[in-house]
Amino acid sequence: MKILLLYFSGTGNTWWLCQRFKELAEERGAEVALASIEELWSEGMRSIVDRWRESDTVGVAYPVHSSDAPPLLYRFLDGAKDILGGEGDGPEDAFVLTTMQSFSGDGALMLRPMLSDLGLELRVSRDFRMSPNTGVPLLTFNPLRDPEFEEQMAKTLEELEGTVGLVLQGKMMRKVQYGSFGRFHGWLQRAGPKWKDRTWRYFGAHPDRCTLCLLCVEQCPMGAIVQEGEGLRWTPECTDCFRCYNFCPERAITVKGLAMSGRHRQHTYFRDRGFPPD
Ligand SMILES: Cc1cc2nc3c(=O)[nH]c(=O)nc-3n(C[C@H](O)[C@H](O)[C@H](O)COP(=O)(O)O)c2cc1C
Ligand code: SF4
Ligand code: SF4
Repeated sequence: MKILLLYFSGTGNTWWLCQRFKELAEERGAEVALASIEELWSEGMRSIVDRWRESDTVGVAYPVHSSDAPPLLYRFLDGAKDILGGEGDGPEDAFVLTTMQSFSGDGALMLRPMLSDLGLELRVSRDFRMSPNTGVPLLTFNPLRDPEFEEQMAKTLEELEGTVGLVLQGKMMRKVQYGSFGRFHGWLQRAGPKWKDRTWRYFGAHPDRCTLCLLCVEQCPMGAIVQEGEGLRWTPECTDCFRCYNFCPERAITVKGLAMSGRHRQHTYFRDRGFPPD
């Protein structure tokens, strides 16, 4: 089976999951091409037209953001309609993998109508729980510490193995976490105030900590951070993926004026393994 797996990852979890998906599926004889949506978005989608046409199934993977897919996914699939929608002899099946901290509800089903517009039937969807990668002032969570982190990864891998089997066997399994309660709660989260519309206003750079290394500017998938003199400005293009915040080497990015304190942790597990790529 030939699989094209398109993914977006803010802080590395979804990237890691997709790499493991590829390994597990290839061990079972499938051929998996991974494509980063942020790269396709900036460099052009035409490069995947052939891959798309050759594939038996297309996977889409993303981090759950407020029981929804990040805006980049919607923009990408909307743009893909013109380029890939008319490929009559292309794939007919799709699957969705998401990563989340704890609750997704029906967040893995949000792209179903857009996939359908591309002629794809969503057959398998599954959320995978993973550790958050960063601690944020005013919020209670922090990355898991070892060995809980390793235990969570092992559990996720086990679940992924099952999902790879479903995809390769062409089975149908669209999972909604907590059934109708999950759907309702997911709807509530999507109907509520949108973090992604506001967070760019909350971000800033701590004047004493920021060294103007510009790593955050280079790594932002949306080109949403601009340098202004000796400072940085976040713009409305920001879609709240937290990559800049997570990977700033000086812990200099502030949220509502607050920078990370000693009790906040920053997980660089993925950076040490090549994410985000240079
Ligand atoms: C803006 C935003 C909203 C989020 N919303 C949810 C959510 O509704 N439920 C959840 O379980 N996790 C939520 N998370 C956590 C991420 O889904 C989770 O950490 C994910 O694995 C990150 O993947 P990535 O490292 O590939 O970006 C949210 C994270 C961000 C940045
Ligand atoms: S990555 Fe951190 S230190 Fe470097 S420019 Fe951005 S905010 Fe400043
Ligand atoms: S500014 Fe930061 S949080 Fe916003 S899209 Fe860019 S990397 Fe993500």
